[in-house]
Amino acid sequence: MTSGQIEAPITGGGEASALSCQEIKKSFQGVAAVTGATFDVPRGMITALIGPNGAGKTTVVNILSGMMKSDSGTMHIGATDVTNWESFKIARLGLMRTFQLSRELGGLTVLENLLVAPKHQAGESLLNIFLRPRLAKREELENTKRALEILRTYGLYDLRDNRASELSGGQKKLLEIARAVMAQPKVLLLDEPMAGVNPALIERIGGYILDLKNQGVTVLMVEHNLNVVEKICDNVIVLAEGRTLATGRLSELRANPEVVQAYLGEVINASTTR
Ligand SMILES: Nc1ncnc2c1ncn2[C@@H]1O[C@H](COP(=O)(O)OP(=O)(O)OP(=O)(O)O)[C@@H](O)[C@H]1O
Ligand SMILES: [Mg+2]
Repeated sequence: MTSGQIEAPITGGGEASALSCQEIKKSFQGVAAVTGATFDVPRGMITALIGPNGAGKTTVVNILSGMMKSDSGTMHIGATDVTNWESFKIARLGLMRTFQLSRELGGLTVLENLLVAPKHQAGESLLNIFLRPRLAKREELENTKRALEILRTYGLYDLRDNRASELSGGQKKLLEIARAVMAQPKVLLLDEPMAGVNPALIERIGGYILDLKNQGVTVLMVEHNLNVVEKICDNVIVLAEGRTLATGRLSELRANPEVVQAYLGEVINASTTR
C-alpha cells in the first residue's frame, strides 16, 4: 500500500470524516480477528466503538493507530490515505491513542511521563542542543508548563513527582489520557478509558472527554458501559465477530434486532445497573 499523500479519498473519508476505514481485515496465525471493519468517524464528535469481548475492537484501534498492520483494507485520516503507515507518521497527522491496559512508564514520575514524547521538540535533536541550546531550553520550559497545566486539569498535579507505578488504577487511566492530550491530538482513540474505574471517576472522565470534544478534538472510544455511551457519544459503531454490524445513534441501534442479538441484549441490563 502507498504511504504517499492522496488528496482525494477513494472510498469513505472526506472532509466530514476525521478518520475512516474500509474493509479492514486482520488474522493472527490464521485466526480471523477482524473480518471487515468499515466505518467513518465524524469530525469533532465522540463516536463509540462497542461490541462483545473478542469482537476485534482493540485490534481495530491498533491498526488505526499504526501499531499493527492490517492484512487488507484501507484507512484515511481526513482525505489522506494512511493505510499501514507507521505509528509515528500517523501521530504526526495528529492521531493519538490510549491503551486498554494502561502503559505508563512506571519508573518515571507522573510529570516525566508527560514530558517524554511532546511533539516537535527542538531539544530532542542533538544538533539543536549544540547549535540552538536556548531554543531547546525554551521548548523544555514550555513543555513543562504545558504538562503541569494538563496535570492540573486532570487532577494529577499533586502527584506530579510520584512514580507512575505508585498510582491507583483510576489515576493510571487519567495519566493515559493526559499523556495523549500532551501531544495535542486532533483525533483521539481511547480504548476503554473507564474500565475498572469507580462511578465518580467515570463521571469525571466523561466530562474530560466532552471538554476535548468542545476543544475540537475528534474522539473514537471503545466502551462497554452503555450509560456512558448514551450520555456522551454522538454516534455508535457496533463491531461483532470482527465486522461492522451497524452504525448510528444508540437509540436506533437499540431498535435493531441484529444488534440486540449480537450485543445489546447481553449488556443492557448489566450496563443499566452499573
Ligand atoms: N496479538 C494477538 N495474537 C493473537 N490473537 C490476538 C491478538 N490480538 C488479539 N487477538 C485475538 O483477536 C480477537 C479480537 O481481539 P481484540 O482484543 O481485538 O478484541 P476486543 O473487541 O478488544 O475485546 P475486549 O472487549 O475483550 O477488549 C480475539 O479472539 C483475540 O484473542
Ligand atoms: Mg479490547
